[in-house]
Amino acid sequence: MDSARPHKRPTALDRMLTPIHRWIWSDTDRRVQKLLRFSETETDGGRDILRAAEVTSDPLLRRLYLEHAIDEFRHGILFRRRAAALLKVSPSRSNPGFQGAWLAPGGHGLDDLQIYGESDSDMLAFLHLSEKAAASRFTVYRDVMEHDPPTRAVFEEILHDETFHMGYTLTQLARVEPQRHKRHLWRARLSRLWKAYLRLASGLAGVLGSLLLTIQYFVLLPPFAWLAKRAARQEGSGWITVSPGRTDSLSRQY
Ligand SMILES: [Fe+2]
Ligand SMILES: [Fe+2]
Repeated sequence: MDSARPHKRPTALDRMLTPIHRWIWSDTDRRVQKLLRFSETETDGGRDILRAAEVTSDPLLRRLYLEHAIDEFRHGILFRRRAAALLKVSPSRSNPGFQGAWLAPGGHGLDDLQIYGESDSDMLAFLHLSEKAAASRFTVYRDVMEHDPPTRAVFEEILHDETFHMGYTLTQLARVEPQRHKRHLWRARLSRLWKAYLRLASGLAGVLGSLLLTIQYFVLLPPFAWLAKRAARQEGSGWITVSPGRTDSLSRQY
């Protein structure tokens, strides 16, 4: 698609998280894993937009969705190729460790896209906000990639398309729903906010769960281990003689 549009400035939150993004992307293994995950997100998003092209009754939207879907498939291929090139240079460890998926998600949030039952205006509002988020994050990811020019170039190239997607979805929303397009945008914004909260909450729950289990392991288990060792020390070793009177009953062992 046309790529001559200016890039969007990242949001304040994305700018604030720049040092964390820099750290996340600094590790080659983590970079490979993230690029592969981004590739999946883009390809899945492309598939969903292709489906949106099938269900819309608006001929112009159908054509734009088709071109949009082709772009997203291409982004998936670009990310995958770059991950493969990095893998050739440095084979990945089996466990790359912390991924920061909820801190540095795959841009779009297109995985939340629901095709069925959505009106054209709802779809366009959702797509516009998703593309806006992608443009903001990819700008930051590109900027923190000074140490890896080829990956930086991939983000740069994809960023042009995402900026175009962001623009056309807003223009089309204003065409389809000239009076109420802002209302649709706010509804989509609230829905994204709720999903972002759920993502953050599940990420935090994972961290807190690991922390609590670690504390339990070091605080609760040692007393039990000490009691078990003390009980073992009090037990006599070897055969124990049972007094004659205790073997008469057939209803108990001793
Ligand atoms: Fe994309
Ligand atoms: Fe896009």
